[in-house]
Amino acid sequence: MGKKIVAGNWKMNLLKEDAQTLASEVVNIAKDELSSDVTLIMCPPFVHLSEVKKLTSAVSNVFIGAQNCSTEASGAYTGEISVGMLKSYGIDYVILGHSERREYFKESNEELAKKTDIVLENGLLPIFCCGEVLAEREGGKQEEVVGSQLKESLFHLDAEAFSKVVIAYEPVWAIGTGVTASTAQAQEMHAFIRGLIAEKYGQEVADGISILYGGSCKPGNAPELFACKDVDGGLIGGASLKSRDFIDIAKSY
Ligand code: 13P
Repeated sequence: MGKKIVAGNWKMNLLKEDAQTLASEVVNIAKDELSSDVTLIMCPPFVHLSEVKKLTSAVSNVFIGAQNCSTEASGAYTGEISVGMLKSYGIDYVILGHSERREYFKESNEELAKKTDIVLENGLLPIFCCGEVLAEREGGKQEEVVGSQLKESLFHLDAEAFSKVVIAYEPVWAIGTGVTASTAQAQEMHAFIRGLIAEKYGQEVADGISILYGGSCKPGNAPELFACKDVDGGLIGGASLKSRDFIDIAKSY
């Protein structure tokens, strides 16, 4: 089992005031109710990171993540955000390779390998997303697709660097659709991912990696998903925008 992690991916949602309200509410409830062995991560849009970081710094098991970063360290890349900038604001995690970025911004496995490297070189921790689309699932190709995503973006790392990566398995057909993977489907893919890591890096490294499930995870289905042997938590979209739901999910262990 990896460390228990529940991360909220706010995606491109919330204006300034609402972002601050949500972060404050999450922190206040987490202070009273969250077990210290659960790591809670909030991933707001870039513009909110600094404020949200300030609001959360009092709670030791609440961390902040970005939703993306540049492959480059600095320079003439208009509109991009470097990992060094994120580091200078005390940001701890970076989501990489979310399916929305793969689909809409054509992020490739190769580009994500570069992003993984630059995140780790700067001492931040990647939350690396993988997952198959519906047609791939229907064609029985989910292991092939997820295997390639991991091998092509992460397996160049040495064991020490790899141990810092958090993996999020997010079947694309379950994201924002209300259709959650069954516990059997989630466990099967998580076990496959852990097995692949064990083959490459050994069982000890594989057992220490947190593999999160993402895709229509809600307070109602989180307990059964998190009870699966190889599910170490969740990457939560819609439900992370409601403080009560997000914390209830984090309390589902
Ligand atoms: P939903 O929880 O809204 O399905 O989104 C999941 C997700 O994409 C998290 O990154």
